[in-house]
Amino acid sequence: MFITFEGIDGCGKSTQISFFKKTLKEKGISLVVTKEPGGTKIGQAIRRVLLDVDNTHIVPLAELFLYEADRTQHVSEVIKPALEAGKWVICDRYFDATTVYQGVILGQHENLIEQLNHEATLGFKPDITFLLDCPAEVALKRIEKRDKTGKKKDRFERKTLDFHIKIRYGYLALANKHKDRFRIIDSTLPEDHVARKVREIISPYLPKGLMD
Ligand code: TYD
Repeated sequence: MFITFEGIDGCGKSTQISFFKKTLKEKGISLVVTKEPGGTKIGQAIRRVLLDVDNTHIVPLAELFLYEADRTQHVSEVIKPALEAGKWVICDRYFDATTVYQGVILGQHENLIEQLNHEATLGFKPDITFLLDCPAEVALKRIEKRDKTGKKKDRFERKTLDFHIKIRYGYLALANKHKDRFRIIDSTLPEDHVARKVREIISPYLPKGLMD
């Protein structure tokens, strides 16, 4: 199984992924939990360039190519081998993030993004994509709180409310287009409710005997 988590910055992905990882481990499922950008050593170097607050002058196409470079290294080194070994792969963001974020930033080049996504992923598509959906105002408040605890905002987290609103609606439109694999969860709900919904959705995919 290949499962991805998507949503605007501050939607609660990291928390839900760590709950979900714990659930799957307790069931004895062999899994790899990974992320984009930065799921490999080369990817971590790319991630630093992408999220550096001093790199506001990065041009949109350079940004797109860096996300795709990170992705194809990641699929080759981590995702493909894990899936071929029969493991579950849980990935924090994947090609949908490029479709939405770079789609909003570039404002055109839809076909180019789609083509690069296809090449970079070597055709590996998620079976299920969880979209943790919440209003941008709620997500930005969570980021502000995190900022006060010492975790400094990255280049994307510093963008305007209007940008994050566009990203939210971009994700909802994409989820509507790919209803077969997207599952939308309201992430303004308490953390344990969101975690329960994730478990309920996944339950039918667990090996017999491990279902909830
Ligand atoms: P993320 O790792 O989710 O941030 P954090 O670890 O701080 O929660 O993502 C970093 C940023 O990169 C996020 O703002 C979204 C952006 N991004 C894109 O613009 N395009 C992409 O293809 C990906 C994977 C991420």
